[in-house]
Amino acid sequence: MNAPYERLEQLEQEALAALESAMDSGALQEWHRLYLGRKGELTSLLRLVAELPEDERPTFGRAANTLKATLESAYEQRVETVRRQELERELARGALDVTLPGRPLGPGHLHLTTQTLRRIYAIFAEMGFQVYEAPDVETDEFNFELLNMPPHHPARDMWDTFWITDKVLLRTHTSPGQIRVMRERYPEPIRVILPGKCYRYEQITARSEHQFYQVEGLAVGHGIRMSDLIGTLTEFARRLYGPDRRIRIRGSYFPFTEPSVEADMDCILCRGAGCRVCKYSGWLEIAGAGMVHPQVLRNGGYDPDEWSGFAFGMGVERPAMLQYSIDDIRLFYGNDLRFLRQF
Ligand code: DAH
Repeated sequence: MNAPYERLEQLEQEALAALESAMDSGALQEWHRLYLGRKGELTSLLRLVAELPEDERPTFGRAANTLKATLESAYEQRVETVRRQELERELARGALDVTLPGRPLGPGHLHLTTQTLRRIYAIFAEMGFQVYEAPDVETDEFNFELLNMPPHHPARDMWDTFWITDKVLLRTHTSPGQIRVMRERYPEPIRVILPGKCYRYEQITARSEHQFYQVEGLAVGHGIRMSDLIGTLTEFARRLYGPDRRIRIRGSYFPFTEPSVEADMDCILCRGAGCRVCKYSGWLEIAGAGMVHPQVLRNGGYDPDEWSGFAFGMGVERPAMLQYSIDDIRLFYGNDLRFLRQF
């Protein structure tokens, strides 16, 4: 038996004895530093390996590592024991005041987005719209092609897209759900809203997030007209923001509607007089909308000679921001309780 091996054995006895006499967490820490620390005895012994004759190195290395494992598990056990003893001593001294009231844990509440969504669901439910959920991960086909945007259609640039593969993406809007509902419900008439998260490959700023909610609406039936769309949006705005809301319609362009419009509501702050929130126009944009394009109806399985429909898509966070004077959209997903608790 040569010197390093003897030292290993000695060290084991010495360390285990010292461990037994460590009586509090301070002593334990000191013990750990001495025997297992980076500058501890065992570490310096392990360094000795390099000085041994080559054929002895593996055996010595193994023995040293076994000792290391032994000491580590003895240490863990001792920590447990000492902790228990310390607690018992504390209890014996009466240091634990069991009559102290606990710290109350708040019950929590729904996220502002969820609250807003549920208000929207309730209003549309009263108007006969069911909630239909479509997937967040979509295909190029549903997100674009079936919505009348073949590959290379310039309108695709309206949506900066997170691509997963050549053909798979995170939906940039809730509109692909229109096709899914139509294919599932044909030949029934349809009245649904499609809420859900949308994703866009955009710089995150106070005004734009790369994830946000939309609520899509779709009605398909016989003889559905633009006036039904306007009536629905007006009724919605009045139920959500008050009975004397006004809606105005502007011409616009979306590949999946014809004609396409944008719907504005008179500003909830200045009621149309003009203020900072509405950029002195008196109006706030609430939705893109239009009559479902004949090709989109066809793609959903509905014959446009017999059926017609309207559709709309509205944001969820932005109206909530207006209503509560929130000036940074990033707050919605920042998970800062100081913000979330206010709603
Ligand atoms: N999908 C559009 C967007 O994300 C919004 C939209 C416009 C939805 C018109 C519609 C519609 O259903 O008819 O910008």
